[in-house]
Amino acid sequence: MSWTRSDFPEGFLFGAATSAYQIEGHGQGGAGLTHWDSFAATPGNVVRAEDGATACDHYNRLDEDLDLLKNLGVDVYRFSTSWARVMPEGRGRPNPEGLDFYDRLVDGLLERGIKPAATLYHWELPQPLADLGGWRNSDMPNWFADFTKTVMGRIGDRVWSAAPINEPWCVGWLSHFMGHHAPGLRDIRATARAMHHVLVSHGRAIEVMRGLGMTNLGGVFNLEWAHPADDSAAAVDAAARYDAIYNQFFLGGVFLGQYPDLALEGLEPHLPRRWQDDFPTITQPLDWVGLNYYTRKVIASQAGPWPSYEEIDGPLPKTQMGWEIHPEALYEFIMRTAREFAPNLPIYITENGMANADQLIDGVVNDPERLAYIDAHLAQCKRAISDGADLRGYFLWSLMDNYEWALGYEKRFGLIHVDFETLQRCPKASYHALSKRLSKSG
Ligand code: FCB
Repeated sequence: MSWTRSDFPEGFLFGAATSAYQIEGHGQGGAGLTHWDSFAATPGNVVRAEDGATACDHYNRLDEDLDLLKNLGVDVYRFSTSWARVMPEGRGRPNPEGLDFYDRLVDGLLERGIKPAATLYHWELPQPLADLGGWRNSDMPNWFADFTKTVMGRIGDRVWSAAPINEPWCVGWLSHFMGHHAPGLRDIRATARAMHHVLVSHGRAIEVMRGLGMTNLGGVFNLEWAHPADDSAAAVDAAARYDAIYNQFFLGGVFLGQYPDLALEGLEPHLPRRWQDDFPTITQPLDWVGLNYYTRKVIASQAGPWPSYEEIDGPLPKTQMGWEIHPEALYEFIMRTAREFAPNLPIYITENGMANADQLIDGVVNDPERLAYIDAHLAQCKRAISDGADLRGYFLWSLMDNYEWALGYEKRFGLIHVDFETLQRCPKASYHALSKRLSKSG
C-alpha cells in the first residue's frame, strides 16, 4: 500500500521517535553516569562493549537534527528526557545545563511547528540509584516523582504530551529476568519487584504531572504477539503465559487494576508486601495509550521452572534484528487494547519500524525494505481505523540510526543514516519518500 495523509482521518498525527541515551551523547553536558554505562563496560553485555558516551552527538547537533525532523514533515516528535542528565546523582541537585538542553529542544520543536511528545524515562537510570537497587527499591516511585517534578517543572508547560516510562516490560522483565538490558540481572525476585515498582512509579509521575496542571498524559507499552509453536495444549498454554507476562501484566495493572493470574503464578511470591494496595496509584486515569509494536514470537513449552516456555525460530521474513515481520498483529493489538483495556481512550502507535543492514554508497542509502515495512504496518493501522478503533497517530522508530542498546551501533533503525565515525547524517531513501508523502499537499 502506498498512502498519503488523506488516507487517514483528519488530524491523524505522523511522528518520529528517539530516546535520550540512544542519541544525545551522555559523555557531555554534565550528565551523570547511568547503569547503561556500567552494563556496557562489563565484557559480554554489549556488542563491542559500545556505550552512549557519544552516540549521535545530538546534544551538540540539536538544530541540525531538528531541521531534519522539520524537513521530514512530521507533526510530532517523541523524545525522552534523561534522568541522569537532569539529576546526575538521581536525587537532589539538578544539572542546569541538562534542563537548559530540554528547554531548547522543546522550544526548537515549537518554533518549527512540531508538537513535543515527552517520555520521562527511557532506560538510563542514574548509577547512584542503581547502586541502591534501582527498580527493586520501593523508594523508586518517590525518587521518580521528584525527577518528574524537576523536569516537568521546566518544560511541562510546553510539551504536547507526556508519558512516564517507556516500555515497562523491558524495564522489568528484559532487564531483570532475561538479563539482556541493564542492570543485567537474572533474578525472579528482582523482576517481580521491578515490574511492580515501575508501574507504581508510572502512577506517581502521572499524579505529579496532573498536579502541575499538565494534560494529555499517557502510558507507552510494548507488545509482542505470542504465537503457539503448534496446536498442542502445552504450546497454547505456553503462549498464553508469554502473553500474560509480556502484554497483559502492564496493561492489566494500569487499566484494570489487576495482574493476570498466569503471571502471578510465578511472580506473586516475590512481589513486595501489600502490593495490591498500590493499584489506586497505578491506575491513575490516562488521556491516551501508546503501543510500541515490532514483531511476534513463536512460543513452545519447555520442561523446567516457570514460566516454562521458549522462543523458537519462526518462518516469516525477518529484519536485521532477526525479528519476524508480522504486521497483522499490530491490527490485533490495537483492537484488543480498545476492547479489553482502554475502551474510551485514543490510541497512538508510539513506536514501529525496522532495523536494516543499510549501506551508504555514493551518498545514497537505498532502503526499500524499510518503506515496505512502514507501508504494511500503516495498512494495518488503516484497517483498525476502518473497524472503529480510535487510532490517532503513528510514530516511526527511529528518526536516525542510533545506539541500539545491547546490540550497539550495528542495528540501523533510522530514516537518517549516521556515520558513527564522522557523525555525518544522510537521509535515506525512506526519509525522502516519507517526506514527500507527508508534505501537507501530499
Ligand atoms: C524499543 C525501544 C527503543 C528501540 C526499539 C528498537 O523496544 O523502546 O529504544 O530500542 O525497541
